[in-house]
Amino acid sequence: MKRILVTGGLGYIGSHTVVELQAAGYKVVIIDNLSNSTMDVLDGIAAISSERPDTEILDLRDKEKVHTFFNDYNNIEGIIHFAASKAVGESVENPLLYYENNVGSLVYLLKECRDRGIENFIFSSSCTVYGQPDTLPITEDAPVKPAISPYGNTKQISEEIIRDLSHASNLRAISLRYFNPIGAHGSAEIGELPKGVPQNLVPYITQTAAGIREELSVFGNDYPTPDGSCIRDYIHIVDLAKAHVIALQRLISKENTDDFEIFNVGTGKGSSVLEVIHAFEEVTGNKLNYKIVDRRPGDVISVYADTGKANRVLGWKAEKTMEEALASAWAWEKKVRGIQ
Ligand code: NAD
Ligand code: UFG
Repeated sequence: MKRILVTGGLGYIGSHTVVELQAAGYKVVIIDNLSNSTMDVLDGIAAISSERPDTEILDLRDKEKVHTFFNDYNNIEGIIHFAASKAVGESVENPLLYYENNVGSLVYLLKECRDRGIENFIFSSSCTVYGQPDTLPITEDAPVKPAISPYGNTKQISEEIIRDLSHASNLRAISLRYFNPIGAHGSAEIGELPKGVPQNLVPYITQTAAGIREELSVFGNDYPTPDGSCIRDYIHIVDLAKAHVIALQRLISKENTDDFEIFNVGTGKGSSVLEVIHAFEEVTGNKLNYKIVDRRPGDVISVYADTGKANRVLGWKAEKTMEEALASAWAWEKKVRGIQ
């Protein structure tokens, strides 16, 4: 049976996607180097799927090991490439790590695709490529703006590399531009578990509610938005995971109309930071300790997706609400911390 390679499959989005792939009948092999995940994630996947996917612990920056992997697994039908470093601040301090890990590894993987005739490739991109868009909601035709961070730049460069190879080979690729993924699997067997202090809003909220962080800082309430806090498009992780399965199916069945296609993956609805906080309080009954602080450098004011293309062309639509996502994030946090 052919397999789907999921790089970074033990990470947050990768693990949820592995579950959905297995539910759809795909046989999966994971590559991960555990730089931002642990082997326990495999137990969570197995508990949900009753299937433990083959997993190779290796670093995609090791070209020789990547080559050997493809010799060992010579039946890869498609690749979903999640593995990357993703901390925006760290990328400013250590840009070469980001260019090597996010761009270098991608080149090695694509070489294997070209040399072995692997045709189906899904890439994890980000709405960060749009910067602060001129019009909202954002369509896929919106211009890519100069990146604010090396991390954002790796996503832009990676899309260009994949596009170029798709024109020069048999590669068919889809770039999914994620908006803000949040939440956890409904079973609470897998979820988001950032190492160290969370950089993202929802894990910071759940850790504050769990008493691990004293206080949540809201970065600015003087933006030109209805309540003054920034607006994002928060998408449930399970909806996002399902979009990958549909995109993969499109490539495998050769329904794609271009060798390189781009889709926004969001809900189409913008929510402010304060709305997220109040929704969390409402859904979980927790009162959150938060304070307004200065703006965070590099934050854009407002971003949310036009999801029309994904709805029409992929037949995919986000189904879950932000409230469901926040409830699942809290259920996961409680399980991890042993809170009743
Ligand atoms: P994550 O850190 O939870 O998962 C990434 C996984 O890749 C981790 O398990 C890590 O150990 C692994 N990895 C990293 N470098 C590797 C390497 N060189 N070799 C092998 N494994 C390696 O991150 P995530 O949130 O699941 O994000 C997945 C992808 O989606 C990334 O490409 C990220 O840039 C992109 N993305 C994430 C978000 C978000 O908000 N989470 C938004 C937009 C795009
Ligand atoms: N925020 C706070 N306090 C916090 C954390 C975040 O107020 O402690 C605010 C931010 O200022 C922002 C909003 O919450 O207004 C969301 O912030 P996140 O850090 O959760 O998400 P971002 O939109 O900044 O960025 C995330 C990922 C990027 C990715 C982008 C788009 O971190 O890697 O989504 O997918 F590119």
